[in-house]
Amino acid sequence: MARRLDLHDWDALPGTAERGPGWALVDGDCLEALEKLPPRSVDLVFADPPYHLSNGGTTCQSGRRVRVDKGAWDASRGVEADHAFQREWLTACRRVLKPSGSIWVSGTQHVIFSVGYAMQELGFHLLNTVTWYKPNAAPNLACRMFTHSTELLLWASPVKSRPLAHRFNYREMKAQNGGKQMRDLWEIAERPEPGGQQVVWTLPTPGPREKEHGRHPTQKPLGLLSRVLAASAAPGDLVLDPFAGSSTTGVAALAAGCRYLGIERDPEYLRLGARRLRSAP
Ligand SMILES: C[S@@+](CC[C@H](N)C(=O)[O-])C[C@H]1O[C@@H](n2cnc3c(N)ncnc32)[C@H](O)[C@@H]1O
Repeated sequence: MARRLDLHDWDALPGTAERGPGWALVDGDCLEALEKLPPRSVDLVFADPPYHLSNGGTTCQSGRRVRVDKGAWDASRGVEADHAFQREWLTACRRVLKPSGSIWVSGTQHVIFSVGYAMQELGFHLLNTVTWYKPNAAPNLACRMFTHSTELLLWASPVKSRPLAHRFNYREMKAQNGGKQMRDLWEIAERPEPGGQQVVWTLPTPGPREKEHGRHPTQKPLGLLSRVLAASAAPGDLVLDPFAGSSTTGVAALAAGCRYLGIERDPEYLRLGARRLRSAP
């Protein structure tokens, strides 16, 4: 039986670091924190896990070659250990999701195949693989492959059921897409094209205005999370982010009238998230 989790439940739990109206942030490891949540209590999960990119390589930033070093949390521990980790946190999320809920996981080729395989192993029902096109992606310095300019978002239901139990705000998505069914390629433009053409939406990485409270090295754009929530959440829903970072998910959740629970184990990012949530309109 699904139950409503009140955020004040977290007062009783160790590690609740910051809270405000409709949101709470837990300071700690997501595997430990998720264990303390009741089963079937969460409506929507958005997870932006470590992509395991910080392994001594280089990238281009503002025209200069720099080392990819987002933090120790982003280092790979090898294919098998990384896959075991995906299985662990996905299992924990599946336990707390309501059968009517769904989960979104973002990633690049470094993790997304492992995440998708783990989802299949664990019995999730894959709904879509959304491609997010980043028009301002950094150039490829090695010149031995194409420029990486996309990220993938896997969207899945925690159960395989007929009829499908998850929420999809189909009409809203169609309306946002000029009256045509929305496709799984998101390229978010500032001004959607009028008329009957399929609108491809361009979504740049976050600009300075989204970083006024501080910097997170892998901060997601608010527009991306707003789209995710518009598609799959309803006001009052509890939205969980087990790898909260700067809590972009939370800012979008509050704007959508949802409640938000974020888990983050780096205290600096946790405080950044709290600042963003406190000043969210
Ligand atoms: C890719 S970033 C998320 C960025 C976020 N979507 C945003 O917009 O700011 C992943 C975050 O997960 C945190 N993290 C990594 N492993 C974790 C774990 N086991 N439990 C909780 N947080 C973790 C890292 O400190 C990092 O801030």
